[in-house]
Amino acid sequence: MPLLTIESVTKEFDGVIALQDVSFGVEASEILGVIGPNGAGKTTLFNCITGIIPPTRGTISYRGEAIQGRQPYQIARLGIGRTFQVVRPFPNLSLRDNVLVALGHRHYPGLRRALSACRTDANRRIAAALLTRVGLSSGHDRAAGTLPLGLKKRLEIARALALEPRLLLLDEPSGGLRHEESQQLLDLIRDLNREGISVVLIEHNMPIVMGVCHRLVVLDHGVKIAEGDPAAVRTNAQVIEAYLGKAVN
Ligand SMILES: Nc1ncnc2c1ncn2[C@@H]1O[C@H](COP(=O)(O)OP(=O)(O)OP(=O)(O)O)[C@@H](O)[C@H]1O
Ligand SMILES: [Mg+2]
Repeated sequence: MPLLTIESVTKEFDGVIALQDVSFGVEASEILGVIGPNGAGKTTLFNCITGIIPPTRGTISYRGEAIQGRQPYQIARLGIGRTFQVVRPFPNLSLRDNVLVALGHRHYPGLRRALSACRTDANRRIAAALLTRVGLSSGHDRAAGTLPLGLKKRLEIARALALEPRLLLLDEPSGGLRHEESQQLLDLIRDLNREGISVVLIEHNMPIVMGVCHRLVVLDHGVKIAEGDPAAVRTNAQVIEAYLGKAVN
């Protein structure tokens, strides 16, 4: 049984069909890429999985249990973590406190309670380890809002990891990153996957997609137009057409 199963998921926004009858599975410990042109419905799919918005129709099952319509915190507690396309750490909190809040969310929803309850030495050590894990080995007292975008994206991953996810959804993690930063991100994704975390990666950067993903799902105008291994998908005629006739490379 796949870890996550999306079955006939449709999402309509006031007449706009953002997802139409989308079905696929995410196998335990795979890295699945979700690609497609702008507006294809990729972020909407993550929003439906993580409970930010309920699907209009369809079923989303995690470890065999239907989860559609549940609250985001409930879904996070089941072990589904995510990062956002537009990063949103707490800008006035330090890097460490941003991770402490995420650690606290496991036990206490609500910012203030989470922070005060979680400022223990043990949690500080966990936060430091998570930040170091994503390549933020120093400056943990710095306000998150002062970080450049590439480092904010890493902080977002540290925050997602604080919830000890079994499945991690990454929405364009390489957007705005320099080549070298993207390569480090690739290594991190591979390492996390080796440790047993399944990853679903929304990504426009094709070298990253082709280099790291075991399998791809392609969306176009809310419809799944292809699914399969990266080599087969990149030569699929419908996929090439969706990318305005440009070769997918
Ligand atoms: N909250 C919303 N209300 C109304 N329409 C929405 C909403 N969220 C998304 N849409 C619409 O749904 C469609 C899919 O948007 P979505 O953000 O999921 O695309 P995407 O594949 O993530 O695109 P991009 O690659 O640009 O991030 C678009 O037409 C978008 O305008
Ligand atoms: Mg998006």
